Amino acid sequence: MLIKKNLIALTLTGLMATTMSLSTAAKTTLKLSHNNDKTHPVHISMQNMADEVKQLTNGEVIIRIYPNSQLGNQRESMELIQSGSLDMAKSNASELEAFEPSYGAFNVPYLFKDADHYYKALLDPEVGGKILDSTKGKGFIGLTYYDAGSRSFYAAKPIKTPADLKGLKVRVQPSPSALEMVKLMGASPTPLAFGELYTALQQGVVDAAENNPTALTLMRHGEVSKFFSEDEHTIIPDVLLISEKSWEKLTPEQQNAVKKAAAHSMMTHKDLWAKMVAEEVKKAKETLGVEFVKVDKQPFVDAVKPMHDKALADPVIGPYVQKIDALR
Ligand code: GCU
Repeated sequence: MLIKKNLIALTLTGLMATTMSLSTAAKTTLKLSHNNDKTHPVHISMQNMADEVKQLTNGEVIIRIYPNSQLGNQRESMELIQSGSLDMAKSNASELEAFEPSYGAFNVPYLFKDADHYYKALLDPEVGGKILDSTKGKGFIGLTYYDAGSRSFYAAKPIKTPADLKGLKVRVQPSPSALEMVKLMGASPTPLAFGELYTALQQGVVDAAENNPTALTLMRHGEVSKFFSEDEHTIIPDVLLISEKSWEKLTPEQQNAVKKAAAHSMMTHKDLWAKMVAEEVKKAKETLGVEFVKVDKQPFVDAVKPMHDKALADPVIGPYVQKIDALR
């Protein structure tokens, strides 16, 4: 009797151990690094994506998000992803151009007519879709895009014409297109990581920067730069990426769940972005006293026209830029 009882107990413990090890083995945690604050709309949209992945996989895949460059800046995170030491990161087309030239297609100034044109290009399988896949075999793949608005110059003075940029040191992202654009407009480009920019502006290492208005409030750049000049030179998407090593560890069902949640979050982000940017602009004006300056864009458009011509003739980005132009 005693032996039988012990046997049952043993079998039960064995069963429990098996179930436990099965459930722990099935659970995958993916670390996602990015350089924005956790109140930033892109962080919120990625959290929504992570929640949906958890729900679609019955808790088997957990995406843990590390904001504010806690795991390194964008370039460092990309390098970790390529080697498989980090699972996921959010970067953007500008920074990614140094890793895969195809992303440069999005960095041509004054390429997009408006938000509709931009979304058409991102959602086109032959443009946005192909570019996300273009890094297959290079250690990472793109999952989706997040709207990061249009980028304009901000400084301690208004920048109304390219002549106002003359002699200024302008912080740019480490991307060949950003460097070329700022040079053609007449200023000196200084590549810096986003996280170093506040101090650089404050200490006069650079005179100006360029970004969407959330940088004024969420990165506090509006404390030092009181004029945001709306020349809207580029519309550069943020991009969600996953290491190929981490991707291959997921089952096909889990991969589908990640793809589905990523695509869904891109579309819910569209409205969230518009709503939150309007709020941040209001805060920048009211709490930081930033002045938003209207700009005649034509002289800026003319200054960078050679970039569009050069892009059309480029063997890698030319075909994308032609397709984007045709979607106007
Ligand atoms: C955008 C983007 C950031 C990026 C930054 C930059 O704000 O969301 O991820 O780093 O531009 O200018 O570096």
